[in-house]
Amino acid sequence: MAAATRGCRPWGSLLGLLGLVSAAAATWDLTSLHCHFGTFCECDFQPDFQGLECDLAQHLAGQHLARALVVKALKAFVQDPAPTKPLVLSLHGWTGTGKSYVSSLLAHYLFRGGLRSPHVHHFSPVIHFPHASHMERYKKDLKSWVQGNLTACSRSLFLFDEMDKLDPGLMEVLRPFLGSSWVVFGTNYRKAIFMFISNTGGEQINQVALEAWRSRRDREEIRLQELEPVISQALLDNPHRFGAPGCHTTSLSQRRCFSHVPFLQMASGAQAS
Ligand SMILES: *[C@@H]1O[C@H](CO)[C@@H](O)[C@H](O)[C@H]1NC(C)=O
Repeated sequence: MAAATRGCRPWGSLLGLLGLVSAAAATWDLTSLHCHFGTFCECDFQPDFQGLECDLAQHLAGQHLARALVVKALKAFVQDPAPTKPLVLSLHGWTGTGKSYVSSLLAHYLFRGGLRSPHVHHFSPVIHFPHASHMERYKKDLKSWVQGNLTACSRSLFLFDEMDKLDPGLMEVLRPFLGSSWVVFGTNYRKAIFMFISNTGGEQINQVALEAWRSRRDREEIRLQELEPVISQALLDNPHRFGAPGCHTTSLSQRRCFSHVPFLQMASGAQAS
């Protein structure tokens, strides 16, 4: 699952650098200045979109929707100097469609140090929260970790694997951090990126792809609008309901807070990870 196939690197970073330089005038001036001196915590956050796009194009075959969505959502979010809520991406699809690969690529192209960056926090339910009897402690820990890390550094990435196995109680701990109504930690929390990975909706996505194939449509013709409702329904039918719209149960705003990113089942012979 090594994300660092560096095929894109030389050009990617060069172009990325040029992109950064030309964008510097607008949003990046202060940040990049600080980064050169290496003192601010945002410095670890060095998005390289050219590199990301290039790597996705080379190594993520057959996922036109995921590729476009992820890049578009990230760009919009990162270039917004004052986002009103964190970026919440939930990646859905069958095992082996490239979800983990994409998440490690994102870490790699957003943070110096990638998954090993101190600002990238990776949680796997079976590893980090294995015992049902310890759930109360896990909840307390998780809340204080997210809170603590966001207080220390607004540009933090929280990555949750295997959401299907995450205790719903832990999701409830996270929920207040995901919306736009949570003000306790100042504005820091709004620059966070949350990424959730799950198989939920995978079967339904495959079904849509299969029907498209049967009616001889190109895979690339499958649009997000066809998949959004089936993913939403799968999430509602799922007992954990983690990605239901409306981030905070008491929030007045029913704005969708999860961006669903569908991963189609790979045709045989296509690349996956
Ligand atoms: C940040 O999160 C990590 C877990 O990824 C945790 O071990 C650490 O204590 C947290 N830091 C703060 C300041 O809460």
